[in-house]
Amino acid sequence: MVYPIVKYGQPVLESQAETITEFDTPELNKLLDDMFESMYAARGVGLAAPQIGIGKRIAVIDITSGEDESQKLVLINPEIIKTEGSQTGEEGCLSLPTFRETVTRPKKVTIRAQDGKGKVYEMTGEDLLARAFLHETDHLHGKLYINHISPLKRDLIRRKIRKLQKANEWQ
Ligand code: NI
Repeated sequence: MVYPIVKYGQPVLESQAETITEFDTPELNKLLDDMFESMYAARGVGLAAPQIGIGKRIAVIDITSGEDESQKLVLINPEIIKTEGSQTGEEGCLSLPTFRETVTRPKKVTIRAQDGKGKVYEMTGEDLLARAFLHETDHLHGKLYINHISPLKRDLIRRKIRKLQKANEWQ
């Protein structure tokens, strides 16, 4: 099932998500399938559960956008345990469609997370994958990439969104 993507302005996107304690249940497995399906349908490389209105610490990532099945990653209760270096590049978010901003992030990032069965794993990613780890983990703490840009640029985006909301073009 493809979920609609929740857009910026909904409280679920700016709330701390809940830790997952039950694994490998039919509900969780179905949700993970649906999250991949929803992410691919929206042509994203990452999706966090709050973006489909579910305040739980679950994210999925596939930096190949579905081209390579082996690159599918499930991040449950992820934590950033190490960061190194720096990269500056454009970043977008499915919850902020049409907007993109330059964001500086660490270049190399190690996460500790659980998979759908609850198995704890650690993984190090660089460049786009490092960015995805940080971006999706942020979502689970109620943060968006616009928290990492200047207040001036953030206000400009907020103003544009307010206009879109008034015109009923942002729901
Ligand atoms: Ni996002």
